Amino acid sequence: MIRTIYREGGAVCILDQNLLPSWLKYECLSDYREVVTAIKELKVRGAPLIGVTAAYGVALAMDVAPEDPDQRRDYFEDATQSFASSRPTAVNLFWALDRMRQVFEAGSELSAAEIKKRLWQEAERICTEDIEINQAMGEHGRHLVSPGVRILTICNAGALATCGYGTAMGVIRSAHRLKLVDKVWVCETRPVLQGARLTIWELQQDGIPECLITDSMAAAVMQQGHVDMVVTGADRVAANGDAANKIGTYGLAVLAAYHHIPFYVAAPLSTVDMKIESGKQIPIEERDRDEVRQIGGTYITLPEANVYNPAFDVTPNQLITGIITEAGVIRPPYQENLLKVRGV
Ligand code: MRU
Repeated sequence: MIRTIYREGGAVCILDQNLLPSWLKYECLSDYREVVTAIKELKVRGAPLIGVTAAYGVALAMDVAPEDPDQRRDYFEDATQSFASSRPTAVNLFWALDRMRQVFEAGSELSAAEIKKRLWQEAERICTEDIEINQAMGEHGRHLVSPGVRILTICNAGALATCGYGTAMGVIRSAHRLKLVDKVWVCETRPVLQGARLTIWELQQDGIPECLITDSMAAAVMQQGHVDMVVTGADRVAANGDAANKIGTYGLAVLAAYHHIPFYVAAPLSTVDMKIESGKQIPIEERDRDEVRQIGGTYITLPEANVYNPAFDVTPNQLITGIITEAGVIRPPYQENLLKVRGV
């Protein structure tokens, strides 16, 4: 299984996803600010992995925190604030920071060395649990799949977006192990091309039959009857089931509804944000305009072209057939059924 993140002594090592599929290169970061930058620059990305990386980053930060308890607390607040402001949409980031805070606060009476140890342990625990959760999602999701299925997906919700196995890709992996998958249609996912660069690479590693399309081809492929189900990941699911995911996901959900194709979201319960009622309240990250103006670092338009670059969109719950979680497949009414498994 590909490792996306690990600790090595006083450093956090990440797989630089901006270099894939050409280079498989790990970068070991010994200053937490470098970890914040790695998240901002998409060297690590995908909702669960952003959370895990922030957890490791906080542990890394606290390794060099001052001994004095008040100064140590200030240092903790500064570090967590830097991570909290790295990317706004994936709620897993805030969920993981909360877990780190609980460990930090529970350790207020402990020695600095003991707190450090516990923070590293918590980061590692979040990562290990993430793999188990993904495998559980895969197990639930594969029951939705019929033999010979052709699944369409977008972005990368795979091992690379997590500590391993993946969310939407976890469902695909589990179905593939039972030889149920005929083909995975992969939308290239402009502007950053996570589908073309990352998902195709992952599918090939596992020998899962794949076919790359540009985002604008999804409609025709559905119209031609070549898609049996759509499975995507999510960055934040509101209490009413509205789901934010990579830009283009909403369009796929509209298309799937029109063509009577089931549309599933695979997301761990850590992606569900019960504090917000609907998708309208999900903060949508806007990224650098050059991501749209360029492909592979080369301008494809005029450098001063006006650009709008939201990284995510929100799929309304009415378009979602089910949300695949580690606790099972949640069906409408989402408000009620998410509350049952997630609590407030
Ligand atoms: O901008 P990214 O690459 O972080 O966006 C990732 C996605 O939109 C994924 O689909 C989502 O985080 C789920 S990953 C399991």
